[in-house]
Amino acid sequence: MSGWASTMVRSRPATAPLVFLLLAGLFLSGPARAEQRYGLGTPASEAEIAGWDIDVRPDGLGLPVGSGSVAEGEAIYLERCAYCHGEFGEAFGRYPPLMGGEDTLAKQDPVKTIGSYWPYASTVWDYVHRAMPFGDAQSLTADETYAVVAYLLYLNYLVEDDFVLTRDNLAEVEMPNAQGFFVMEGPEFEPREPCMTDCKDAVEVIGRARIIDVTPEDGAGSVD
Ligand code: HEC
Repeated sequence: MSGWASTMVRSRPATAPLVFLLLAGLFLSGPARAEQRYGLGTPASEAEIAGWDIDVRPDGLGLPVGSGSVAEGEAIYLERCAYCHGEFGEAFGRYPPLMGGEDTLAKQDPVKTIGSYWPYASTVWDYVHRAMPFGDAQSLTADETYAVVAYLLYLNYLVEDDFVLTRDNLAEVEMPNAQGFFVMEGPEFEPREPCMTDCKDAVEVIGRARIIDVTPEDGAGSVD
């Protein structure tokens, strides 16, 4: 037994560098070598990357070439959107309304719609193109998306009925709440450097979140 153990001990210095090299090789070889090691996966093709890379920014970056008019959008909207969102964007049941809500943001029950709340038209384009119609997402072409977004802008009194939305004019559409989002300023909002050395030993709790009991008790009045 002791002979075996001493052999193991003696052999350790010889194998340790080998194990290290093997592990380092695994880490350093990176994804490019994964195929060789496991025979799994393929590099993402340009078409696959394009399928994911669909975000649209406020300045219009990311928009595909295309255009659509309010009138074209109305036809698409009535067929593919109105049965949930209502003919004029007023919405059925608990589906979200797509118009209205002006001047309600500071009230107790704000009505947040693309017209009253969303700061950029690009977000409407991105969202509709990415996620609507609900249950059949990404079935609209670029032109259909331009058209239906033009119609949504029209429903919110932001463009005229002869308006044609294009890649070039989308960023110029000014949304009513564009100025409603801003960076908070003042000492309480300054980012603080995290303490990394010689920090205080004991953590002292200086306040607790108030426990808000949102479930009404039997017989208790409603909140309004
Ligand atoms: C089957 C019902 C249904 C249909 C059809 C539908 N939507 Fe929606 N829509 C929804 C639901 C549900 C949400 C909320 C989704 C969520 O919050 O995750 C929504 C959210 C939205 C929003 C965001 C609203 C907000 O202020 O948060 C927009 C814009 C929108 N839909 C546009 C459209 C357009 C344009 C079409 C037609 C091309 C369409 N929807 C078709 C159900 C539908």
